[in-house]
Amino acid sequence: MSLFLECIKGIPVERPPIWFMRQAGRYLSEYRNTRKEAGSFLNLCYNSDLATEVTLQPIEKFGFDAAILFADILLILDALGVNVQFIEGQGPLLEPVRDKRDIQKIKNIEKIHEKLTPVYNTVRKLKNQLPVGVPLIGFAGAPWTLATYLINGKGEQGSLTAKKFLIENNEEFEEIMNLLTEATIEYLVMQIKAGADVIKIFDSWAGALNADMVRRYSLDPIKTIVSKVKGLYPEIPFIVFPRSVNTTYRDFAEVDQFDVLAVDQFLDRKWIANKLQSKKIIQGNLDPLFLTQKSAILLKELKTVTSDFKHYPYIFNLGHGITPDAKVENVSLVVDYIKGLKL
Ligand code: CP3
Repeated sequence: MSLFLECIKGIPVERPPIWFMRQAGRYLSEYRNTRKEAGSFLNLCYNSDLATEVTLQPIEKFGFDAAILFADILLILDALGVNVQFIEGQGPLLEPVRDKRDIQKIKNIEKIHEKLTPVYNTVRKLKNQLPVGVPLIGFAGAPWTLATYLINGKGEQGSLTAKKFLIENNEEFEEIMNLLTEATIEYLVMQIKAGADVIKIFDSWAGALNADMVRRYSLDPIKTIVSKVKGLYPEIPFIVFPRSVNTTYRDFAEVDQFDVLAVDQFLDRKWIANKLQSKKIIQGNLDPLFLTQKSAILLKELKTVTSDFKHYPYIFNLGHGITPDAKVENVSLVVDYIKGLKL
């Protein structure tokens, strides 16, 4: 088995495994070159050869302990028939889905596989090309985070449009959530069939919800997805990332079927250690901002994170995705530092 999978399964490991969210990305010149070759971000996602190449770049360069499939959480919306675009410097732009007529147009879940076949092929190629001992993480966005993009038509700080929609058009909202939950189950099953070793669910906008809404619209749909997929593939571990849900993280820590809880950088590490780490393997939570700083400042922060988390096994990662202005030499520094640790 690999260090990463051993840690997840609760087998004692000599040091924390390490990988980074967005480890394949714009901070790497290799990535920027391949993306140029692809012509656009979406072309890159749908080109299995190039997507395989960019997934492997950070593994070869830094020796991370796990690889994450190169794709995007919004591809499933594209595959459902919503026109998704990524605008340079602005992020995603979609045709909003807001009323029953719009919903009717995206109801055919079975059709997602046609568009997503290149993604499954990327998984297959990666399984042949990844170094021994480096597992592959497949992923999906959680229904709430997907719904925020779908309803709002773009990313929105605070997700107010989707939150109001949830309150004012609850019937339509629930219909959208059920549809996204079912489509996500189908999508993840196919990723696992193609060879994904671990699955991560990103609920990046969960922090926009109040605690009751988090339980109902973040936690519950994720539970449904994990229990359905685990019903078919009980051996596949799940990493769940309900970003910025504050103390509601405790409700996620109570769910047996979640194997790893990914924590953001805003949560108090002492609280994480006490309330979460004692129950679950956690993954996190270096603030990605430190990767843009001088090495001495980064090292000081690294020492704090690893000291706060050292009492239980954990997976070292960032609190959110690596940013384009991260320094490459800082990424090497972190990997070398973690690989030199003893638990
Ligand atoms: O290396 C990896 O982590 C694997 C690939 C991956 C990407 N996106 C590539 C990407 C993964 C796992 C994601 C997940 C994703 N996508 C999330 C959840 C995680 C999070 O960040 O909270 C979300 C919310 C998205 C949606 C998305 N994709 C946005 C809002 C943007 C634009 C903002 C930005 O960072 O540019 C993207 C684009 C995107 N996805 C890029 C990459 C490498 C940058 C695209 C580029 O090359 O221009």
